[in-house]
Amino acid sequence: MSHPHESVVPVVQSPKGLLRDGDGSSIRVSRRLRPGQTTPSRRRTTSRPEGRILFVTSEMADFIKAGGLGDVASSLPRAVRERADIRVLIPGYPDVMARAKGMRKVGRIPALAGLPPCEIGRLTLADGLPVYVLICPMLYDRPGSPYVDHQGRDWVDNAVRFATFSRAAALIAGGQAGLKWRPDLLHLNDWPCALAAAYLKWNGATACSLLTIHNLAYQGLFPLDEAAVLGIEPEHVAELDFHGQLSFLRAGIVHADQVSTVSISYARQITAPADGCGMDSLLRRHAARGRLSGIVNGIDASWDPRSDHHLEDHFDLHRWEGREANKQRVRRAFGLPDSDGPVFAVVSRLVHQKGLDLSCAVAPQIAAAGGQLLIIGGGEPQIEAEVAQLARRFPACVGVYPGFDEALARQMFAGSDFLLMPSRFEPCGLSQMYAQRFGCLPIAHATGGLIDTIEDGVTGLLFSGADVDALRRCVQRAFRIHRIPGLMAAMRRAAMLRPASWETAGGHYLRLYERVVEQYA
Ligand code: ADP
Ligand code: GLC
Repeated sequence: MSHPHESVVPVVQSPKGLLRDGDGSSIRVSRRLRPGQTTPSRRRTTSRPEGRILFVTSEMADFIKAGGLGDVASSLPRAVRERADIRVLIPGYPDVMARAKGMRKVGRIPALAGLPPCEIGRLTLADGLPVYVLICPMLYDRPGSPYVDHQGRDWVDNAVRFATFSRAAALIAGGQAGLKWRPDLLHLNDWPCALAAAYLKWNGATACSLLTIHNLAYQGLFPLDEAAVLGIEPEHVAELDFHGQLSFLRAGIVHADQVSTVSISYARQITAPADGCGMDSLLRRHAARGRLSGIVNGIDASWDPRSDHHLEDHFDLHRWEGREANKQRVRRAFGLPDSDGPVFAVVSRLVHQKGLDLSCAVAPQIAAAGGQLLIIGGGEPQIEAEVAQLARRFPACVGVYPGFDEALARQMFAGSDFLLMPSRFEPCGLSQMYAQRFGCLPIAHATGGLIDTIEDGVTGLLFSGADVDALRRCVQRAFRIHRIPGLMAAMRRAAMLRPASWETAGGHYLRLYERVVEQYA
C-alpha cells in the first residue's frame, strides 16, 4: 500500500453515508494493476486512447508564475511525459511570446460573440515538452501578472480573456482548431480554464475533462450579463450562476467528468461548509459519486541542497557546515546582525489566506526571545505596510524584502531554521515542502495539504486553530527544540527526507487520467 498521503484517494461515500478515503478498488483502472502495484507500469501509453492529454494552465514557471500553480504546471507534465503524450496549452503572454522565435503557427480559433479569433502556435521546450500557445495580442500580450495589472487590479476583460482561453482548449479537444493532434482528456487547472469543461459539453465533444482545483477561493466571478459576450446560450446560464454571478469555477465543477484537488485533506475539507466557499454541497454530490479526488503535489529535483545553483554553499544530511554558511549569508542579505538565536522565515504571497497577521503578531515574541524573522513577499498593500512597519520597529530582528525573488526565497529556505506558515486554509502548499527539503522546519496551521505533508514533532510543527495564541505556543515549542541541538538535527534530517517527488504524484495522476478516460470517453 502506498503512503496514504501520496495516493489518489477518491473521496467516496461509505454505506453509512460518511466520507472516507478509498483506494479506488471499485473503479476500472484498478483491474489493470497487479495486486499490490501502486503505480502504473512504465510502458509507454501513447498508443492507448488515455495517453493523449492537454494540460491547460494560465501560468507555468518556465515562462511566468504567480504562485504554486506555476510550479505544478512546470513539473507535472514533465513527470508524466514518459508514459503519456502530454502537451501544455498556455496564453501568449509577453514572457511566452519572447520564445516566439522557434514557434510554428499550427491552428486557428474562430471568433464567437465577443471572443476574438486567435491563432495557436507550437513551441518545443529545450527538454522536448510540446507547448501550444494561444496567440491573441489584444488579450494576452500585456505587462503584469496573468491576472492583474501593476496596481494589483484584475484586468477588466478577464472574463473575455479566460473564456477565450477555455473555449480554445475545448475546440482543440473537439478537433476544431486545425491541429493535427487531438487530446482524449483535458486536464484543466483552476478557474481561468474551468469553463473549457462546459464549452466541451455544449459543443458535444467526446473528449473528457479533469478539473484540478488548486484554490477553491478563486472562483472567476463575473456579472451575469456578460454571458452573451462569452458566447454562452441563455439556456446554459443557470449552469454558471453562483448567487447572481457567473462563476467559471462552478461551470467547471458542474461539467468536468472528474474533479481533483491538490491534497487529500483539502479534498475532504471542501465538502464541508467551513472551507467549501459556498460550493460544498455541489462537491459533496461529486464525492458521493466518486468524482472527487485528492493528490498531494510533489517537488521537483531542482530543490536539492547539494546542488541548487541559487546557493553558494551546499549541504546534505551529513554535512551541515554549508547550512550554517547559508544562515550567515541570508541574515546579512536582510541587513541583520549575527546572532545565536533561531531564524524564522516567511516566504509567501502577502494575502489573507496565508495568515500574515498571525506571523506579524508573533514577531515581538520572536524578537524578545532572541530570534530573528525574515519576510519575503508581496500582495495586499495593507499587509505589505504592516510588515514594513515591523522591520522599522525591530531593526536588528526583523528583515523584509518586498516582492518576489526566486533566488532569495531559496536562500531563505536554506538558511532559516523555521518557516512560519499559519495559513487559514491551504489546498496543498509547496513552500513547506521546499523548506523541509532544505532542512528548515515548517511551523504550520493544521489544515489542508499542511496536514498531509507535515508530521507534528517529526518533520515540522503543527497547531490547531488559526489563532495567535496557538501560533505563539508553537513558536515557544520551536525555541525549546532549537535549544536541543540533537533534536533539532534529527528533525531537520527527517524533514529533508519527507517531501515526495513529482514522480510519485505523476504516477497517481496517470492512474486518474486512465480512469477518467476509461469511464467517460
Ligand atoms: P500559493 O500558490 O498559494 O502562493 P504555494 O506554497 O503552493 O502557495 O506556492 C508558492 C510558490 O511561490 C512557492 O514556489 C514559493 O516558494 C513561491 N513564493 C511565494 N512567495 C514568494 C516570494 N516572495 N519570492 C519568491 N518565491 C515566492
Ligand atoms: C494554490 C494553493 C496552494 C497550492 C498551489 C499549487 O495556489 O493556494 O496551496 O500548493 O495552488 O497546487
